[in-house]
Amino acid sequence: MLQVTGISKRFAGLQALDGVNLSIDDGGMHAIIGPNGAGKSTLLNCLVGRLAPDSGSVSFGGRSLIGLRPHEINQAGVARMFQTPELFDELSLLENMLIPTLARRDGAFAFKAWSRVDNQDGLRERAEHQLEAVGLIDRRSHRASSLSRGDKRRLGLAMCLVQDPRLLLLDEPTAGMSRADTNGTIDLLLRIAHAGLTQVIIEHDMQVVFSVASRISVMANGRVLAEGDPASIRADERVQQAYLGGARL
Ligand SMILES: Nc1ncnc2c1ncn2[C@@H]1O[C@H](COP(=O)(O)OP(=O)(O)OP(=O)(O)O)[C@@H](O)[C@H]1O
Ligand SMILES: [Mg+2]
Repeated sequence: MLQVTGISKRFAGLQALDGVNLSIDDGGMHAIIGPNGAGKSTLLNCLVGRLAPDSGSVSFGGRSLIGLRPHEINQAGVARMFQTPELFDELSLLENMLIPTLARRDGAFAFKAWSRVDNQDGLRERAEHQLEAVGLIDRRSHRASSLSRGDKRRLGLAMCLVQDPRLLLLDEPTAGMSRADTNGTIDLLLRIAHAGLTQVIIEHDMQVVFSVASRISVMANGRVLAEGDPASIRADERVQQAYLGGARL
């Protein structure tokens, strides 16, 4: 589904990505792990058009994504949940949900300001249905700023899912969540995976990684150090050394 070949990105004196190759299979849940500063978020930013890689190619379902603008990549079917939730703090949860819903319909924010959006094409139902799926429906009229860190992540996830993407990129979806909320999120992600949505998840929590991943890539210093199924990654000595300083996964 997604083929990343030789992506490099340099920030001033720092080689953040150094020839990254990544192949994401249709229908799988592919985890990217690695220490802080490994380049995981930078890689995601290159995939969604937020950063332009210095070199390399990205192909999604056979189509090159290089040079496309973020909204064009989004409309091609790639949704991305940010490491730090990017929400409209002053808007209600439901209003936050309507923005990606409208963006999916209207493209480059060609807002049809003259047409009512309250319930056109069942947009509001779609948004409410997705709020329900992440357990936030009771707070639909609250401001996004009133949410806890974990709930902001759940809203961010709902804002991705409402777009019905073909590929979902998640940057630390459970960071800042309680163990109970983390388990709820694992269940939700597994349900989404079961429904056939391909996911790429960046995650530090190994319990999450080994609960959901069908494949794992390990990054360090801007490179992919190892790639394989969870059992082979768990057993990989280089991963143990480089990533955990010898501690067992
Ligand atoms: N816009 C930027 N300008 C300069 N340096 C950057 C920029 N974005 C990231 N970096 C640097 O690039 C390196 C990779 O950062 P990145 O955020 O991709 O790491 P990460 O693997 O996502 O780490 P974490 O697990 O902490 O989120 C880091 O050294 C970071 O400081
Ligand atoms: Mg990151």
